[in-house]
Amino acid sequence: MSNESRRYTVAVVGATGAVGETMLNILAERKFPVGKLIALASERSAGEKVKFGNSDVVVQDLATFDPKGVDIALFSAGGSISKEYGPKFAAAGAVVIDNSSAFRYDDDVPLVVSEVNPDAARQRPRGIIANPNCSTMQMLVALAPIHREYGIERINVATYQSVSGAGRSALEELGRQTGALLNFQDADPQRFPVQIAFNLIPHIDEFLDNGFTKEEMKLVWETRKILADDSIQVNPTAVRVPVFYGHSEAVHIETKTKVTPEQARKLLKSAPGVEVVDERKPGGYPTPVTHASGNDAVYVGRIREDLSHPRGLNLWIVSDNIRKGAALNAVQIAELVAAE
Ligand code: A2P
Repeated sequence: MSNESRRYTVAVVGATGAVGETMLNILAERKFPVGKLIALASERSAGEKVKFGNSDVVVQDLATFDPKGVDIALFSAGGSISKEYGPKFAAAGAVVIDNSSAFRYDDDVPLVVSEVNPDAARQRPRGIIANPNCSTMQMLVALAPIHREYGIERINVATYQSVSGAGRSALEELGRQTGALLNFQDADPQRFPVQIAFNLIPHIDEFLDNGFTKEEMKLVWETRKILADDSIQVNPTAVRVPVFYGHSEAVHIETKTKVTPEQARKLLKSAPGVEVVDERKPGGYPTPVTHASGNDAVYVGRIREDLSHPRGLNLWIVSDNIRKGAALNAVQIAELVAAE
């Protein structure tokens, strides 16, 4: 059977979650050649239905599911689930595309951004391909073309990350707290350590010994692995903001050879997956709500020279963290696998 006519048995693990639901939508939207779709989640959700295109699929309990016959498994149910079940699916013959950080830093697991290092997906001795962290993903879709032309030595980045990155319960918490506070009631934080509505939280994932959070170090480790360049210096600050969908990043780069804003704009206009929105007028820049939310591109604006460095450039990078930052890239990796 040729690849063109082949249809795949695809399992989505975490199908009831914020990312899993979008994986199902994107598989249908992009007409991925699905022969059979299997939706998996915890025992709590077994028997519920999720939408795949025009059909309803009954959710099955991951714990009792036999992975034999699955061709491609998209995992987005958290790191511990990936660690426990990912290798079992791979041993049963599936290509596992994992959205968690469980395998990202293993040398024998490729970490792939479809526009940046698609060829890396072919070398997967364990049958597992890792999907990068959402913040690294959008940053590198925009920065990789600049790195290839001008050589990036150093990246300073502050992220403004939406609550959807923390899952469905975090979306619910922002909605609930917003309503409560507008009605003069307490925020009562549960999902986040402090109030997120009408606030900012400079803390995502756990604190590490060096004072950075793990979310921040993901930007360091993953940038080097994806660009295959351990010399790149990255100085990150990750902040959670009361936005539902779409991450933003204020990025400052220092390059080996000088790149002007005009050169960067020209390069990015032809870069795959990137849209330049950079007019020096009110609204002439991308925001999570006006551009990113529900769309596929990585939007870049506010491109300007760094006044404090002779080879410095500033950019503002915005993308839908659930789509390009997670579900879309996972499906694009599945497309790479299907095209082999
Ligand atoms: P469930 O809805 O049954 O809890 P989100 O990141 O949006 O919170 O989604 C997490 C996803 O991971 C959900 O689909 C959730 O399913 C799934 N999940 C969580 N714990 C387990 C588990 N123990 N086994 C299988 N799936 C799980």
